[in-house]
Amino acid sequence: MPIDLKDKRKTGGTITERRSIADRKILTDRAAATKEKASALNHTLASRNSDPSIAIPTRVGVNLGDYEYLKKQILSITGVDLNAYKEAQMKRRIDQLITKKRLRDYGEYIQLLKTDRDVLEEFLNHFTINVSEFYRNPDQWEFMDSTVIPLLIQRYGKNLKIWSAACSTGDEPYSLVMALSKYIPLNQIRIYATDIDKTILAKAKRGLYDEKSISGVPKEFRDKYFRKMTGKEMDAVEMIGNSDPVATLKTAYAISDEIKSRVTFKQANLLEAKDYPKDYHMIVCRNVLIYFTEDAKDEVFRRFHDTLVHEGILFIGSTEQITGYQDMHYGRKNSFFYERLD
Ligand SMILES: C[S@@+](CC[C@H](N)C(=O)[O-])C[C@H]1O[C@@H](n2cnc3c(N)ncnc32)[C@H](O)[C@@H]1O
Repeated sequence: MPIDLKDKRKTGGTITERRSIADRKILTDRAAATKEKASALNHTLASRNSDPSIAIPTRVGVNLGDYEYLKKQILSITGVDLNAYKEAQMKRRIDQLITKKRLRDYGEYIQLLKTDRDVLEEFLNHFTINVSEFYRNPDQWEFMDSTVIPLLIQRYGKNLKIWSAACSTGDEPYSLVMALSKYIPLNQIRIYATDIDKTILAKAKRGLYDEKSISGVPKEFRDKYFRKMTGKEMDAVEMIGNSDPVATLKTAYAISDEIKSRVTFKQANLLEAKDYPKDYHMIVCRNVLIYFTEDAKDEVFRRFHDTLVHEGILFIGSTEQITGYQDMHYGRKNSFFYERLD
């Protein structure tokens, strides 16, 4: 059923009106969230800078003149200090945005960032990189299903403590619940899921997804745990952020409460030691460490080691590796799965 954009609701006007209010709010929320991330990273970098024994990685292959100017401008417009992020990677991502817009240089982009709210938000979304999907990299989930979950149950029984770190919109922790449900009764499954971004956690808790995000969900689970929303239901949905899929789509899929209730979401920063829990059997942390400097990444891997129980499993992203994993007392099961050795 098509959405009636003129349908006034008691609480907040038409969808268009509500979305434009949400539009205004989102920039503030996103800027606050990204500032929070930037300040966390800056904090880590600052403490590292004060320790002369720890080397800061050198910058390679970039036009420092132009990029220096861009960094200063971005800092003053958004509060994000790009110095805390891997430079080549961040620059490449920004260059992609600029090329897509057919702009000639950073100067033109800065002008747009200052004057066009959509461009500014596109930058913030690009920067925070919240992309996720259910069963991302299916072959790795296949290994999880056939090998890792049975191994965990054999080692620790069915009361498993599992942490989905940097969980974004919840696709990953909910995929975990479904994968585990083949072996463990649903009401016995508990996943702890964290992200630094409060806005994204609100979306994760709401549990609404577009067709593409759930395309990798096995059919049996899709039929059982997802429901296509009606037009009326879509109309009643409160938008969370400008990049909210249900804001622009005619269809969305709601994940069932049975699955949702198995996940506890909490805001936590991977760069803060105090945000690490204890005695976990498995940590799933994928597609976030690629944005960190080598030093920050090493620190996270060491903290994960402390969080895991003996032989606990760490599941990382396809492009992430633990360099020197033996020195950190990890064993390597394959490119994505490691285990704590001592
Ligand atoms: C690309 S998503 C990865 C989502 C999911 N793990 C996956 O692989 O599909 C990266 C997530 O990391 C989060 N993030 C970035 N910096 C973080 C930090 N310092 N601590 C915790 N989460 C962070 C972002 O907010 C974002 O949701």
